[in-house]
Amino acid sequence: STGRTVDLLDRPLRDLRISVTDRCNFRCVYCMPKTVFGRDYAFLDRDELLSFEEITRIARVAAAHGVEKLRLTGGEPLLRRGLEELIAQLAELRTPDGRPLEIALTTNGSALAMKAASLKAAGLTRVTVSLDSLDDELFQAMNDVRFPVGRVLDGIQAAHDAGLGPVKVNMVVKRGLNDHEILPMAEHFRGTPFTLRFIEYMDVGTSNGWELGEVVPSAEIVERIGERMPLAPVGATAPGETAARWRYVDGGGEIGVISSVTQAFCGTCNRARISTEGRLFTCLFASEGHDLRALLRGGIDDDGLADAMGAIWGARADRYSEVRATLTPELRAARPKVEMSYIGG
Ligand code: GTP
Ligand code: 5AD
Ligand code: SF4
Ligand code: SF4
Repeated sequence: STGRTVDLLDRPLRDLRISVTDRCNFRCVYCMPKTVFGRDYAFLDRDELLSFEEITRIARVAAAHGVEKLRLTGGEPLLRRGLEELIAQLAELRTPDGRPLEIALTTNGSALAMKAASLKAAGLTRVTVSLDSLDDELFQAMNDVRFPVGRVLDGIQAAHDAGLGPVKVNMVVKRGLNDHEILPMAEHFRGTPFTLRFIEYMDVGTSNGWELGEVVPSAEIVERIGERMPLAPVGATAPGETAARWRYVDGGGEIGVISSVTQAFCGTCNRARISTEGRLFTCLFASEGHDLRALLRGGIDDDGLADAMGAIWGARADRYSEVRATLTPELRAARPKVEMSYIGG
């Protein structure tokens, strides 16, 4: 196993996104709607989750295959008890040429004000916070658990103060729901240390009832903001980067747009995902993962695990976001996909 592992489309493996829990304290309408994730929803049992040791083993082998960045996701990763211990273990890992891995976290921010300092002390590098509206009434309706927006804003600031920056803020835009918040969000974060990124609403999973008409194309977002505050594109994106960057011509920093629907970026996709129960997915839209937990619990050694992961990545040909446009709504609906809260954003 070497750092040159590539898939069938010559894409290297660089980014490993690890879902540490399938649970969340929010019920965002586009991700874990209460109609599906209600009181009797069966989340995974404790012994089904990968242990911290199991996660660290997989990450170590992934690093040997070229992974340089780990991202902890969920669900809400800060709900996983003892997460700081896992971060401390991951912080010990090195690339083949001896560099530490970047360890990022994607969170809804609800517990950040409390945890930012201990996360930083454990070795976390960076935080990305999801925030879909500044309007408290709308924010509470979107998270559907009446969580106030002020506490998320406090969490974002706390992450910055703890040195977990540059902190990125992700806004999923759904037409008719929060697209009127595009401009207020841009104005709020302009000139701050926080980079706001707009995400096109995607057809992940099968429970959010996605329709193409609900997607606000990034081009429209850039146009709407640019009318008020002129924008210019910032150079080429780094290989594998999800966001296209734009800067305010008159100063005040940058925004990003993540256009997985209107401008798919599968061509450079270097991301693998580990689900909460240890399945390796080679695409956010894959219907099935590869059961690494069975291998681990069956007693495989690190060389065997490295071979297995190399073979899985080597056989990868996924490019769902590029294919999506060619599918009829019927074909799209018939295609099984896993939920984002399980596979990790
Ligand atoms: P940084 O830019 O380094 O912070 O990493 P990142 O772009 O991976 O950041 P983040 O985890 O915040 O990803 C932002 C969002 O982009 C995710 O929540 C998803 O909505 C979307 N996204 C990330 N990776 C993929 C991908 O591989 N495919 C698709 N279709 N969407 C993705
Ligand atoms: N489309 C786009 N982004 C989504 N996220 C969750 N569900 C969707 C979806 N259907 C985002 C969250 C968070 C990240 C983990 O993924 O808002 O920013
Ligand atoms: Fe939870 Fe994030 Fe999904 Fe919202 S988008 S329900 S915060 S995992
Ligand atoms: Fe990567 Fe799949 Fe997303 Fe394309 S759709 S960018 S292959 S995760």
